[in-house]
Amino acid sequence: MESYESIKKIYNFNEVDKGNLESLCTAAKQNADKFADLLYEFMSTFTNYNKFLGNTEVRKRHRERFKAWFIELFCGKYDEDYFIRVQKIGHVHADMGLPTHYVSATMSFVRNYIHQTILLSCPSEEERKNCRESVDKILDINLDILTSSYVDENKIYIARTKIENKIVKISEKISYYFDIALVVALVFTTFMIFVLFISDIYNFLRSASSFENSVINILGAMLIIWTIRELLEEELKRLKGKKFALNIFISLAMAAMLRKILIFSLEPHNSTEVIVLGFLVLILGIVYWLMNKSSN
Ligand code: HEM
Repeated sequence: MESYESIKKIYNFNEVDKGNLESLCTAAKQNADKFADLLYEFMSTFTNYNKFLGNTEVRKRHRERFKAWFIELFCGKYDEDYFIRVQKIGHVHADMGLPTHYVSATMSFVRNYIHQTILLSCPSEEERKNCRESVDKILDINLDILTSSYVDENKIYIARTKIENKIVKISEKISYYFDIALVVALVFTTFMIFVLFISDIYNFLRSASSFENSVINILGAMLIIWTIRELLEEELKRLKGKKFALNIFISLAMAAMLRKILIFSLEPHNSTEVIVLGFLVLILGIVYWLMNKSSN
C-alpha cells in the first residue's frame, strides 16, 4: 500500500514541479473550454462513447468535472485531498466498467494537448523543458492512480477520507505487530516440536516404547516441523510485503492430523477416531486442492 506522500516520492514530484505547474495555471484556465471541445471530439471516436457519455446531462456534468480536473493539474495543492479526488474519479470509472485503455488514450490526448498548447506560454525553451517534465510527472501520477483503481493487487492505496487513512495506518501498525508476534510464536512452537522430536528419539533409545511406535512418532514430529518451517517462511515473506499463502495453514492441519492417524493406527481400539480423522484429512485435501486450483 502506498500513501500519497510515497507516490510523490516515487515520481520525484517536489516543490519545483509544483512551482512549474503553477506558472501554467493561468494558461490552463484560459484554454479550458477550447480544450474541452477538442477532448469530446476525440473521445467521441471511442466505440462505446455513447454507452458512457451519450446522455446530454451526464456529458455536461462530465465536461465541467473534467475541466475542473484539468485546471487542478496546474493549480492544485497536490495534498492528500487532491489524491483522494483523483482516486474517486478512478473508482467512478472502474465501477461503471469504463475500459482502462479509454482512460490511457484520453490521458495521451491530454498530454499532447498540453505539450502543443499550454507549454507554449512558457517564455523560454529552458523553462518549457522544465515545465514539460513536471507536466509529465503529474499526468503519470494521475494515470497511475486512475488505472490502479481497476486492479486489486499491488494497487496504489489512497484512503477515500482522512479518517479512513488514519484507521488504515493504525491497522497496518497493529497487523505488523501481530505478524511479529506470530513469527515469535511460530519459532517457539518449532522449538517445542523439536523437543518432542528429541524426546521421541530418547524414548526409542531407552526402549520405553516399541520400535514401530517410535518410528511413527518421530515421523509425525518431523512432518509437523517441516510444515511449521513452511508456515514460518510464509509469515516472513508476508513481513517483507509479499502475499500470504493461506494453503500452508491447511497443510499444517493435514500434517497434524496425519500424525494422529499414524499414531492411532497402531492402537487397536481407535478405529472410529481413525475414520473421523481420515474423513477430515480428505475434506482438508479437497480444500487444499481447490485453493491451489483457483490460484493457478
Ligand atoms: C483522463 C481521463 C479522464 C478523466 C480525468 C476523467 C474525469 C472524470 C471526472 C472528474 C469524473 C467525475 C467523478 C466524480 O463523480 O467524482 C468522471 C466521471 C465519469 N467519467 Fe470520466 N474522465 C476520464 C475519462 C473518461 C472517458 C474516456 C469516459 C468515457 C468515454 C468517461 C466517462 C465518465 C462518466 C460516464 C462519468 C460519470 C459521470 C456522471 O455520472 O456524473 N471518462 N470522469
